[in-house]
Amino acid sequence: MTNDYTPFVKWAGGKRQLLSTIDKYLPPFGNNYTYYEPFIGGGALLFHLQPKKAVINDSNAEIANCYEVIRDYPDELIADLQEHNRKNNEEYYYEVRDSDRKPEYKTSTKIQRAARILYLNKTCYNGLFRVNSQGQFNVPFGRYKKPAIVNEAVIRAASSYLKQNELTILHGDFKQAVNEAKEGDFVYFDPPYDVLSSTSSFTSYDVNGFDRAEQERLFNVFQQLDKRRCYVMLSNSSTDFIRKLYKNRKYKVLTVSANRAINSVSGGRGKIDEVLVINYEPT
Ligand SMILES: C[S@@+](CC[C@H](N)C(=O)[O-])C[C@H]1O[C@@H](n2cnc3c(N)ncnc32)[C@H](O)[C@@H]1O
Repeated sequence: MTNDYTPFVKWAGGKRQLLSTIDKYLPPFGNNYTYYEPFIGGGALLFHLQPKKAVINDSNAEIANCYEVIRDYPDELIADLQEHNRKNNEEYYYEVRDSDRKPEYKTSTKIQRAARILYLNKTCYNGLFRVNSQGQFNVPFGRYKKPAIVNEAVIRAASSYLKQNELTILHGDFKQAVNEAKEGDFVYFDPPYDVLSSTSSFTSYDVNGFDRAEQERLFNVFQQLDKRRCYVMLSNSSTDFIRKLYKNRKYKVLTVSANRAINSVSGGRGKIDEVLVINYEPT
């Protein structure tokens, strides 16, 4: 296995810096397992493991579309990104960013939509994907001197991986994404983090719209998959709430130290404890 595949987007909660730790806790899967990643985001673990069969999913339609376009239209995507690169400046950035507020946006092609997201991701402040309540991208310009807008090698590597293997790309809820998971398959859950703030009035507020009821719904799915004898791994913040939820003699709750590079929750940067929950003995 080669590990030179890097994610094609920077993503809040991206797992690149946790990969060497995750490696130590991988399940004893055989050669014929299907990998499930229902909260795919930038897909750091997918590209690291490069499984032969995988089902990936995200509720964010734009990111799911990027995976399809990278697989099916890498040349056209690279050409669109080269054009964005030629035109890039602050004024152009805001023009592209705000295009999703115009009616014509609905008629843009899959390729134009993916190129827009990748262009904004490389040039916006902090590489965040953030939308307002109307679903419109609202991150300011990043003022980078030389952003790597066209990362041809990364796009081509991701494209060959997605094309040459049996990949199903879904855009929906995490629960449906694991419907077909069966004994021996590996499911990695990397949901939006449980909120770290202990400010009582803010405990149920979550910028990702993934509140504690959602964390509980995910826990139920975790248990169902455990019953189906799937190997399940989950990463999350090391909050009392998450620790209590998964406290079960069958599950191992491991504390790992992560460096959060991008976080939309203020005060959430720097070294921080996270948990990895697994339902198996690692290899
Ligand atoms: C922490 S990020 C995943 C980061 C990813 N592992 C990486 O390495 O880049 C969580 C992702 O979950 C997605 N998400 C939020 N709610 C969801 C839901 N109900 N079902 C599926 N995906 C969801 C978000 O759009 C986001 O991309």
